[in-house]
Order: sequence, then C-alpha cells, then structure tokens
Amino acid sequence: MANIIEVENLYYRYRDATEALRGLSLFIPQDKRVAILGPNGAGKSTLLLHLNGLYLPQKGKVCFLGREINPRTERWVKSKVGLVFQDPDDQVFSATVKEDVAFGPLNMNLPEHEVSRRVSDALQAVQMEEYSSKPPYHLSHGQKKRVAIAGVLAMQPKVILLDEPTSHLDPKSKITLIKILNHLHRQGTTVVIATHDVDLAAEWADHIIILKEGQTLAQGDAWLLTKEDLIEKADLCFPTVVQIFRQLPGVKRNYLPLNVNEAVTVLKTIITS
Ligand SMILES: Nc1ncnc2c1ncn2[C@@H]1O[C@H](COP(=O)(O)OP(=O)(O)OP(=O)(O)O)[C@@H](O)[C@H]1O
Ligand SMILES: [Mg+2]
Repeated sequence: MANIIEVENLYYRYRDATEALRGLSLFIPQDKRVAILGPNGAGKSTLLLHLNGLYLPQKGKVCFLGREINPRTERWVKSKVGLVFQDPDDQVFSATVKEDVAFGPLNMNLPEHEVSRRVSDALQAVQMEEYSSKPPYHLSHGQKKRVAIAGVLAMQPKVILLDEPTSHLDPKSKITLIKILNHLHRQGTTVVIATHDVDLAAEWADHIIILKEGQTLAQGDAWLLTKEDLIEKADLCFPTVVQIFRQLPGVKRNYLPLNVNEAVTVLKTIITS
C-alpha cells in the first residue's frame, strides 16, 4: 500500500530555541483514516504545519506523493493538503462566513459558479448554510470550527489534516463531524486528525501514530491502544472500553474490544456462555 506522505528525520526548533520536533519519522498511508495522538506539547500541531507546507523542514524531509516539500513545491502541496487549525480564530477571518469559505477556491482562480457551488456544498456538509451571511466573529467557537472545516472542504484536497477537530464540539456536532470525515474518506480523501481523544482514535482510525517529545513512539493499527507499556510511556490513557474490559475477569488480553461495537460482541458471548 502506498504512502501519500512520508516524513524522515524531521527537526524543528522555534525561535525561542524550543525543539518541537527532534528527528521525527513517520508515514501516512494513502486513503486511510489516521489519528496522531500524543500529550500536550508532543509536537502534533508543529508536525501538521509541516505536512501541508506551511512550515518547511529545518532538517530532514517531508514528501507528498513522493515529491519533497520545499519552496518550489509548497504552493502545489498547499492546494492538495488542507489543514484545519487547532484554533479557528487563526483561520476564520473574512467579513462573512460565505466569503471565508470562498477564500481558498477564489485563490485557486476557479470560475465564479464553481466557487459558489463549492461554498454551498461545503457549508451544507458542516450544516452551517443558515449562517452563511453572518460575520464569523459572531459565531460560537464550535460553529467557527465548522466554518474552518468548510473552508478546507471547499478546496477539495487529497489529504485533509484536522488539528483537534472535536474540541469545543457538542456531542451531536461531534457525531456529525465523524460522519463528514467518513464520507470524505469513502470519496478517497486521506483524513488525518491530531487529537488527545483516545476513544475517538480507537473508534474511528485505521492507522494510529503516537508522538512524544517531538518523536514517533509507535505507529500501527488501533490495537496499539491496548498496550500498557506504550500507553504509559506516551502519557496517554486506555480507551474507555479497554479500561472496562481490562478489569473484567475472563476477557483475554488479546481479545480486548477497542470500541462500542466490539464491546457489545464480546459481552454477548460472555452473557450467552
Ligand atoms: N510559536 C511557538 N514558539 C515557541 N515554542 C512553541 C511554539 N509553538 C509551539 N511551541 C512549543 O513546541 C512544542 C510542541 O508544540 P505543539 O503545539 O506542536 O504540541 P502539540 O502536540 O500540538 O500540543 P497540544 O496537544 O497542547 O496541542 C511545545 O513544547 C510548545 O511549547
Ligand atoms: Mg496542538
């Protein structure tokens, strides 16, 4: 299976000398749902800023579709890899919601009717059509986040990166967001989220990457989230379902369910046996 993004030995030091990334290597498999996990300050946001060419490597390299991201390719990468920032106030700035969502497509020099179509499709996807004429600064944080997501959807990227996409979303908006991400994934978009939410990662992701102190601790399938030594080392905690089933007698460690559906299956076999 091909990797759409590859990162090799990436270093990044901020101006105040904080070493945010320290020789980080990882790969993003194409067409997968990927969750990047790690504690506060692990380097998740700094990494995402490199994956769409907003930051360029100080050392090491990042490749998108096999081409190194550098000053010659960064514009092309930005048009193909969309990033939804952790804080929507860093992203949403136009006078109205619809102008904000149109900003990216207009920059791509698309014809006006195509821009309008993309704006209305994207606002519909995040269920924000009725707010299209509102100034973004009158919206709640969660609504601004949805507008920021619409702005990226309107670019129709190959890869969409979302930094803490579920923070500040109410439970129903979180479910809606997951549906949107799954829809994008089915359409062939590689979807990458950075999150602290181990439950979300266990429920949703096909591929998990765990970062700590600017390096990759592990990557693989969601089964990683059942590994005690790794969870401890990464300063994370087990997904809720795993926490419960680890305490139940009679559930073998290699049959631990990771999400609600798997838990129901295991419980049914316990109840009926
Ligand atoms: N603009 C900046 N200037 C200086 N240091 C920074 C800057 N932005 C981030 N850092 C530092 O770089 C390191 C990595 O930060 P980053 O924001 O990438 O982590 P994160 O994993 O996204 O954390 P969180 O889970 O809190 O969002 C941290 O030590 C942070 O303090
Ligand atoms: Mg962050």
